[in-house]
Amino acid sequence: MTAPDHFIGFGLGLRTEHFQDVLDTRPNLDWFEVVSENFMINGGKPKHYLHAIREHYPMVMHGVSLSIGSTDPLDMNYLRQLKKLTNELQPKWISDHLCWTGNDHTNTHDLLPLPYNEEAIAHVVDRVKQVQDFLGRKILLENVSSYLTYQNSEMTEWQFFNEIVNRADCHILLDINNIYVSARNHDFSAESYLQGIDKDKVRQFHLAGHSDYGDYVIDTHDHAVADPVWQLYRQALKRFGWISTMIERDDNIPPLQTLLNELDIAREIADKTLNQINTS
Ligand SMILES: [Fe+2]
Repeated sequence: MTAPDHFIGFGLGLRTEHFQDVLDTRPNLDWFEVVSENFMINGGKPKHYLHAIREHYPMVMHGVSLSIGSTDPLDMNYLRQLKKLTNELQPKWISDHLCWTGNDHTNTHDLLPLPYNEEAIAHVVDRVKQVQDFLGRKILLENVSSYLTYQNSEMTEWQFFNEIVNRADCHILLDINNIYVSARNHDFSAESYLQGIDKDKVRQFHLAGHSDYGDYVIDTHDHAVADPVWQLYRQALKRFGWISTMIERDDNIPPLQTLLNELDIAREIADKTLNQINTS
């Protein structure tokens, strides 16, 4: 199966703990994802490292504060800073989450799901269009893991997601681990989720670890990717083909080499899965 133009290979989230190591060893990976909010500053050491690393690697930007589903007005100050960083880094793309993080200017610092209904779709679509107009480019929205549902939801999460990305003309960052976590917590089929998502909209995959408490699963990003998530990744590759993939580790950060080894597993799985499709 041939890779599409938007495929940029296999990357890692850029973490402070690895700054020097990345510059010293120039690891074999294709790109880094940076958390936008961490670099909305003028000057300083992190910014110095960011630009030094950018000279050697393409980057994508990933935000956590857009709160696209909130009923508060869009934070134009935040968007101006996002645009400034975009001009500096020239990222391949910019992503944030399909969620809300608070109302009435209160930030819960949680990525909360929305009710899956027409009212929320219209609201989010309007805001995505405003953001894309302001930034002058399409954004990617990521599925969050969830631990609650709403009585006024009228459709599945994947139907809701498709409607938004199609009407707003944006793209999808599909977090495979989040699908697994939400499927376990809400007892739906992760495979149905993958099959339900529109094929042409996906531009990036996240792979991450979680904590499994038996009755429920939490998206902690502090472990290696679990076997069932690798299994789901195989299925995602079969459905979506070559999609740029990264390991997302946010806590309990191991040495860089450990994450590079985990990324090699992703590469191997993608090679095997997509070459099988090619020859069959
Ligand atoms: Fe993610």
